[in-house]
Amino acid sequence: DKGGWSSFMAKEISEEPEAVANTIRGRVKDGQVVIPELDGLDELFSGITRVIIIACGTAAYAGQVGKYAIEQWARVPVDVELAHEFRYRDPVIGDDTLIVSISQSGETMDTLMAVKYARERGAKTLSICNTQGATIPRESDAIVYTHAGPEVAVASTKAFVAQITALYLLGLHVGRVRGSLGATEAAQHVLELESIPDKIRQILEDEQGHIEQLAHWMADTRSVLFLGRHVGYPIAMEGALKLKELAYIHAEGFAAGELKHGPIALIEPGQPVFVIVPSPRGSAVLHPKVVSTIEEIRARGARVIAIAEAGDAAVLPYADEVLRIPLAGPLFEPLLAVVPLHIYAMGLSTAKGLDVDQPRNLAKSVTVE
Ligand code: BG6
Repeated sequence: DKGGWSSFMAKEISEEPEAVANTIRGRVKDGQVVIPELDGLDELFSGITRVIIIACGTAAYAGQVGKYAIEQWARVPVDVELAHEFRYRDPVIGDDTLIVSISQSGETMDTLMAVKYARERGAKTLSICNTQGATIPRESDAIVYTHAGPEVAVASTKAFVAQITALYLLGLHVGRVRGSLGATEAAQHVLELESIPDKIRQILEDEQGHIEQLAHWMADTRSVLFLGRHVGYPIAMEGALKLKELAYIHAEGFAAGELKHGPIALIEPGQPVFVIVPSPRGSAVLHPKVVSTIEEIRARGARVIAIAEAGDAAVLPYADEVLRIPLAGPLFEPLLAVVPLHIYAMGLSTAKGLDVDQPRNLAKSVTVE
């Protein structure tokens, strides 16, 4: 039931705040992360020497965001691998490897087979999943459910923010267990995470109309590029994936630092480029670098749409459009910056008269290889 919304996707984007809040609920006690499902696993978390996140599609981009946070907080190397690549290349894994699979449906065949493969080779497996009792969690040693609620639209939106939330809870927990993260710092991150639902609500209230209008104006666009750095990089790729899936146009996400190593050749007058701008306060080193990237592409005629923190005036001279997100700590910005991109992809698909919930050739859960 769409509950009065024009599509399931519109409804599910409106539920992104609850997806985050419900995934946190019951997992914070006295300001610290407590995940009852992970009781008894402290020894495992202390002993691992690496983490490999395995997923497909949007879930893999959530994993790439999670990598930054888990490495920072838990001081353990994290690799993110597409499930179908992992399985067929004789990866180096053993009982000191923790495999974290991410799947909304819990039924994606490639992810399931990769989990089984890793388990047979002695790795411990933890599943982040949105569907109670699905096959992947049943095949895993531990489960952390995301509580985004049922997701109907084929392209994943609210499950994505819930997956990042679950990865962050996991990173904070493992960081505390391993002793790499102090209680005070962990408590600050927990507070930050708990403030995210209201900040997403604010984006939906303040920017949704503006973004849908922008998408409408851009209905004839043939190609869109997305740039980001650090945690903004996987968000750039997620923005591009959504546009391919929903609006059937060419879209690519790049690491902004990679621009001069190739992609800048694509910039010609009128080329729309979304740029995810890190916070000037939180990312004092990266912010000016991204602003100068914007300057460079603008000088070559790009049409720049900046996603920037409220109050960041540095982008104003170079951006054609600015989509504002509330202030958040550097690692938490992806949970905000992705929201305008989800709205934009839905808006462009709608402006082109396409079916946002059931894009051509795609399935919600791919249970074949
Ligand atoms: C694709 C879906 O087929 O599978 C994507 O269209 C999704 O939205 C991907 O991200 C992975 O699915 P799941 O269920 O494993 O998260």
